[in-house]
Amino acid sequence: MLITGAGKRLGREIALTLARGGWNVAVHHRQSVAEAQQTAADCDALSCRPGSAAPFCADLGDEASVRSLLPAVVAHFGRVDAVVNNASLFEHDSAQSFGFAAMDQHLHTNTGAAILLAQALHAHLQDSGRDGAVVNLLDQKLWNQNPDFFSYTLSKAALEAANTMLALALAPRVRVVGVAPGLTLTSHLLSDEKFQALHRQSPLGRSSTPEDVAATVAFALTNRSITGTTLLVDGGQHLMRFERDFSLM
Ligand SMILES: NC(=O)c1ccc[n+]([C@@H]2O[C@H](COP(=O)([O-])OP(=O)(O)OC[C@H]3O[C@@H](n4cnc5c(N)ncnc54)[C@H](OP(=O)(O)O)[C@@H]3O)[C@@H](O)[C@H]2O)c1
Repeated sequence: MLITGAGKRLGREIALTLARGGWNVAVHHRQSVAEAQQTAADCDALSCRPGSAAPFCADLGDEASVRSLLPAVVAHFGRVDAVVNNASLFEHDSAQSFGFAAMDQHLHTNTGAAILLAQALHAHLQDSGRDGAVVNLLDQKLWNQNPDFFSYTLSKAALEAANTMLALALAPRVRVVGVAPGLTLTSHLLSDEKFQALHRQSPLGRSSTPEDVAATVAFALTNRSITGTTLLVDGGQHLMRFERDFSLM
């Protein structure tokens, strides 16, 4: 199992949940070296199997670096059965400030890298004769759009389309499932108080927790009948109308 961006935040929670479920975990990171080493150590401790997790570094904005990632994990563990495309670039731009540089960066990191990793998993599983799965982390805001974080949203919309196309193209060997959280973790743009208030803004009175999202990823990886769809885990936020991104409200 390879999880991108798993040193901290949601990726770390997914890694710990899957380690508890008995998976070997390749903890991908870029800058968060110490955090990824800690996540791998914690996965090891949770699974009670020393060597069941290890950190792997790659820049997902760089094609050669992305292409080298899955072979490195296979060389280490001998096999890979699933990829969770969790890592993501989330930088602000708008329709007014939009330019190719920001679009390219978001599309490379958030869309292209996820597709390349799905492609590499498929090739690896074809060779070995086993089945596997890809989970793509999306965002409730695709169903409830606003123009903030323009390039980020475009890149996730493209990933949602790729989720459908890959499910068709990589079947029956590889299932492809989207998981779309609502507001789950805060950012430096939100005070704790504001985050709590926004988290309550949903039909269920609470958006998603990291544990909810990680449990859904685990479910998507193990349910052998699900492919080409997205599980929204957001307390129903996608049913509401938000004029701005949460971090700018
Ligand atoms: N947090 C939320 O409330 C929320 C809501 C909706 C959807 N989501 C989705 O859920 C996923 C996880 O969210 P998050 O908030 O935990 O993510 P995050 O903290 O914004 O990013 C996760 C990791 O992505 C990695 N990353 C970024 N650019 C990279 C690059 N060029 N190469 C390699 N790694 C790169 C970073 O790893 P390093 O630190 O190692 O550099 C970062 O720690 C994302 O796909 C996000 O879109 C999150």
